Amino acid sequence: MPLRTPICDILQCHYPILQAGMGGVARAELVAAVSTAGAYGFLGMVREAPDFIAAQIDAVRAETDRPFGVNLIPAATEPSLFRAELDVCLARRVHSICFFWSVDAEAVARAKAGGCIVLYQVGSVKDAIAAEAAGADIIIAQGFEAGGHVRGAVSSLVLLPQVAAAVGCPVVASGGFATGRSLVAALSLGGQGIHCGTAFLATTESFAHDCHKNALLAAGSEDTVYTDAFSINWPPHSPVRVIRNAATDQLGGQLVGHDPDDLWWEQVATDSGRPIYRYSTDSPLRTTCGNVDELALFGGQCCGMVTTIVPAARRINDIIREAEATLHQFENNLYPALPAEQLVGSL
Ligand SMILES: Cc1cc2nc3c(=O)[nH]c(=O)nc-3n(C[C@H](O)[C@H](O)[C@H](O)COP(=O)(O)O)c2cc1C
Repeated sequence: MPLRTPICDILQCHYPILQAGMGGVARAELVAAVSTAGAYGFLGMVREAPDFIAAQIDAVRAETDRPFGVNLIPAATEPSLFRAELDVCLARRVHSICFFWSVDAEAVARAKAGGCIVLYQVGSVKDAIAAEAAGADIIIAQGFEAGGHVRGAVSSLVLLPQVAAAVGCPVVASGGFATGRSLVAALSLGGQGIHCGTAFLATTESFAHDCHKNALLAAGSEDTVYTDAFSINWPPHSPVRVIRNAATDQLGGQLVGHDPDDLWWEQVATDSGRPIYRYSTDSPLRTTCGNVDELALFGGQCCGMVTTIVPAARRINDIIREAEATLHQFENNLYPALPAEQLVGSL
């Protein structure tokens, strides 16, 4: 079974497919579906209240006994809240924690001391080395084509083999991976699996608003925008990749160089009574009301290959089936790998 890699033993999952912990979007329903289907889910809990995190962990456990993790972002969370978030994860004995953005060695040390497996998503070789030195067990190498916040400047095709060569721990590929063929590519580039956001955003169980899912389906790979305008709640100059919409068009070509203090904090939506401002990093959720299609519609360049909203189990099954078929074709010297019409929109 070439698709079973050592990370499957570390994470105790059947398939080397990790569902990215997307803030707001990856809640208990999605994570339970992913882990039940044999992949590995992460609750996206950035800046969530500790009580909510505890309830979400309990909700996944009520649905499945398969392992899953929690995603937190130290750099984008007020320090006392971050400490409380990590405390609740450790008290609940979560299986793993996935951190993102700048490397926070203290957070890694606390999570390790609490008995967690630690994954760190990074965007450069330098940060990969720092995360491993801090004690991370698995590095997730995020390429520039990724949806959501984009940490680095190099594409997955180029970054992944360099990170895999630079660290001793297992590496997982992130950014642009949504198909079985891309899983095979990740394995051939030194990765031990793939970490997918966009592919799992477009599932029935994701908590994203339908307008976000539909925008993703309609978008081609040229329709994403890399900008640091959506900066409220994050450190200045934290770029994201979003699907182009009225908010990005309004930037008039000035996509980078924005500061949260310079932006006009106009309320355009609400979520459970909470105001949501234009250029906030909150994406529209099932519970968001207002001008939802003007918010940050995070999405990666692989949106051009994601053309259906399906249950998460189906997405995982399709990726695995396509990866196995691709490997089979390589073994039998069958080129091209698949008919052209299946190369796009195969999901
Ligand atoms: C809607 C959305 C929300 C995201 N939120 C987070 C987050 O809260 N924490 C995090 O570590 N990464 C987040 N990401 C980035 C993912 O971890 C991952 O790097 C990215 O989705 C991979 O690229 P892909 O979208 O091409 O699969 C988000 C991505 C998307 C699409």
